[in-house]
This record gives sequence, structure tokens and C-alpha cells, in this order.
Amino acid sequence: MKLIMLGAPGAGKGTQAEILAKKLDVPTISTGNILRAAVKAGTPIGLKAKSFMDAGALVPDDVIIGIVAEALQGPECAKGYILDGVPRTIPQAEAMEEQGVQIDFAVDLEVDDDTIVERMSGRRTCPACGASYHVINNPPKQEGVCDQCGGALTIRADDAPETVKNRLDTYHKQTEPLIAFYQERGKLKTVANQPTIQATTAEIYKALGI
Ligand code: AP5
Repeated sequence: MKLIMLGAPGAGKGTQAEILAKKLDVPTISTGNILRAAVKAGTPIGLKAKSFMDAGALVPDDVIIGIVAEALQGPECAKGYILDGVPRTIPQAEAMEEQGVQIDFAVDLEVDDDTIVERMSGRRTCPACGASYHVINNPPKQEGVCDQCGGALTIRADDAPETVKNRLDTYHKQTEPLIAFYQERGKLKTVANQPTIQATTAEIYKALGI
């Protein structure tokens, strides 16, 4: 299965992508995680991306298109993958189509802005493996420690309230048009907001028929 996870920042794309990846036994490609790792390592891509990410803006399309093309070459992607956070603009989606990327479904997680702000304020992430937690909705077994790799959990720099506002503005202007883009292609599956991560997963499984 080849899936795209669509939705606002903090809608739960990464959380659900991780669950789906285990269920379907396919890798997740998260451009956010790839970019954060590049920033941490100080690579040329990381140096270019940092100021955009810090401001809550999108990294230029040419950088993202290159990252995705390279990631999809990996042999582990042959039987399917989950794209988390990409495409994020119409030009990114068009470039992927031009490269011959054919997806089965784009899953849109619909969450209102107030809920997003609440989720971001409680999010904790593992900089080592990218896993995402929430202090109330999805706490780690041991406070401050990643269940998956034992890394120390941190608050993402771009989860500061002012940056979250910018990220939401960016989402509404540049990413939301992708909903119509995939609807026109008959690929869209919409999942309305659910009170828990488990309930959201159940709705996604129902939408995908898995
Ligand atoms: P990225 O890392 O992709 O951030 P994002 O899209 O803003 O999404 P998030 O990772 O913040 O949220 P999420 O939807 O994965 O939610 P999560 O599962 O963590 O991108 C970061 C930056 O990189 C961008 O701003 C941009 O600069 C750049 N970038 C990345 N890709 C790009 C691209 N393609 N083009 C250009 N630039 C790009 O959940 C959030 C919280 O809520 C967690 O705490 C979770 O536990 C909790 N939660 C989740 N679901 C539920 C639920 N149903 N009920 C209760 N709590 C829940």
C-alpha cells in the first residue's frame, strides 16, 4: 500500500503513520524527520532548511522534491510506503506525479485549529528516532524517556505558540489545496477528528478497508 498522510501540523500524521507502518509492514518517509536530522547533522540541506523551519514556513519545493525522490529509491520502498508530511504543496504533488509516483490513497486527518494548538503544547518528541508522544494523550512509559530507543524526550523548537500559529497559516494557504487535488483524482480518504489516537486509527483502518 502506498499512502500519503495529509493534515495540519499536529493533526497526528506522524503518530498514525508509525502505527500504519507496523500494520502494513512498510517504511514511513517523514520529510520533517529527515529535515530535522539534516539540521542536527549540519548538512548543506539542513543549513538551507533551518531558517524556514524555525519560522514555521515551508522548505523550498526543490529541496523537498530531491529528498523524496532519493528516499523512494530505497529497496525497502518496493512493496509500499507511507509519506508523512509530503507532498505539502501542489508543485510537490505535481513533481511526484511527473516522477511516476503512484499512490493508492491520501488520508486527510481533519482537526480544527484549537485542538491543534492544544496538542502541540503537550507534544514531546524523541530527537534520536523521531517518535512522538503527548503528556496526557500518549505518555511514554517512563516520563521524559522514549519507549522505542531510550532517548531523552524534548519539546520541538517549532512547537512554540507563535511558530505554531505561522505553521497553521502556512498549512491553510499552501497545503490545504491538496485536499481538492487528491479528491479530483479519486484518492482522498477523509478521517474526521477523534478524541483518541486509537479511535483515529480505527477510523483510518475503516476508510482504507484494512
Ligand atoms: P513536520 O515534522 O512534517 O511537521 P508538521 O506537518 O507540522 O506535523 P507535525 O510533525 O508537527 O505533526 P503530526 O501531524 O505528525 O502530529 P503528531 O503525530 O506528532 O514538518 C516540520 C517542518 O519541516 C515544517 O514546518 C516545514 O518547515 C518542514 N517540512 C517538512 N516537510 C515539508 C515539505 N514536504 N515541504 C516543505 N517543508 C517541509 O501528533 C501531534 C500531537 O498530538 C502528539 O503529541 C500526539 O501524541 C497527539 N495526538 C495525535 N493524534 C491524537 C489524537 N487523535 N488524540 C489525541 N492526541 C493526539
